[in-house]
Amino acid sequence: MIKIAKLIDGTKISQDIKNEVKEEVKKIKQSTGKVPGLSVILVGENPASKVYVGSKQRGCEEVGIKSESIKMEDTVSTEDVLKEIDRLNNNPEIHGILVQLPLPEQVDKDRVLQAILPEKDVDGFHPVNMGKLVSQQECLAPATPSGIIEMLKREKINLKGMNAVMVGHSEIVGKPTSLLLLNEWATVTICHIETADLKMHTVNADLLIVATGVPYLIKGDMVKEGAVVIDVGINRITKDKASPGLLEWRKEDFEKKGATLIGDVDFLAVEPKASHISPVPGGVGPMTIAMLLSNTLKAAKNLMGIK
Ligand code: GUN
Repeated sequence: MIKIAKLIDGTKISQDIKNEVKEEVKKIKQSTGKVPGLSVILVGENPASKVYVGSKQRGCEEVGIKSESIKMEDTVSTEDVLKEIDRLNNNPEIHGILVQLPLPEQVDKDRVLQAILPEKDVDGFHPVNMGKLVSQQECLAPATPSGIIEMLKREKINLKGMNAVMVGHSEIVGKPTSLLLLNEWATVTICHIETADLKMHTVNADLLIVATGVPYLIKGDMVKEGAVVIDVGINRITKDKASPGLLEWRKEDFEKKGATLIGDVDFLAVEPKASHISPVPGGVGPMTIAMLLSNTLKAAKNLMGIK
C-alpha cells in the first residue's frame, strides 16, 4: 500500500491566523480609534522584492492594518535610508518598520537594520530582538521561523525531544528557526554548505526543515520513514530544466507560464516517506506574511500599551 503524507496546508493555516489578526485589529480600532501601521522600505528594482512587498501590502489590507511602501532609488546612500528610518521611528502612527532585503551593495545593511527601533522591528532582525530570542525573552521573532513553528503547533506536532535537522544557516531562516526549535525542547542539528555528509544527518531527522535555495537538494533516500518535512525553498524552474515527473505534475504551469515554483525537497520522491510535508507553493510562504501581520499587531499593542 502506498502511504500518503499529510500535506500541511500553509494557505489554510495562514488564513486562520489572518482572521484572528483581523478580529483583534477591529477591536483595537473600536476601543482606541487607532489602527496598527506598517511601513515597508523598498530600495531599488529587485523583481522578487517587489512581488514580496506587494504580497505584504495586500496582507495588511486584508486584515485592516494601515500600510505604506516607501520606494527608494537603488543609488541611495546608507545615510538616506537611515534618515527615512529615523522619521518612521518617530512617527507614532507607524508601529512596524520593515526594510526589504537584499539592499544594494553601497547600503550598509547592518547599520540600517540596527537603526530600526527594536519595538518596531517586525522582521525581528535587530540584534536586540535576536539576543532576546537567544535568552528566551519576549521579543519580535523573525516571521518565517515563527511561521514554521506556528504551522507545526497547529498541526499538533509535539516538538519536545524530536531530532530536528535544520538544513541552511541563514540569519533570516536557519539560525532563528534553530533557536525557536531549541526553545521548544527539540534536539537541533544545523547543517550548512560546508556540512561534510548531509545525508548522514538528514536520515536521522524526525523533523527536517530545509531552507537553502537549492532545488532537489533533499532526495527520497535522505529522509527517514515517518519524518515531518518542512520545505522553505522557493525555486523557479523553467520547462527546459524540469524533470519528466515535474513536467507531468505541473503541466498546467508550464503550458500557461513556462515555469513552475518548487522547493528544495524532491517532493515526488520524499512525500511517500514523510508523515507530514509542506508543499511549495502553499506551505511556508503564506505563513511568513501571516506572521508579519501578527508581529505588526503585537508591536502596535505593545506601543499602544494594550495587553
Ligand atoms: N528578503 C527575503 N526574505 C525577507 C524577509 O523575511 N524580510 C525582509 N525584510 N526581507 C526579506
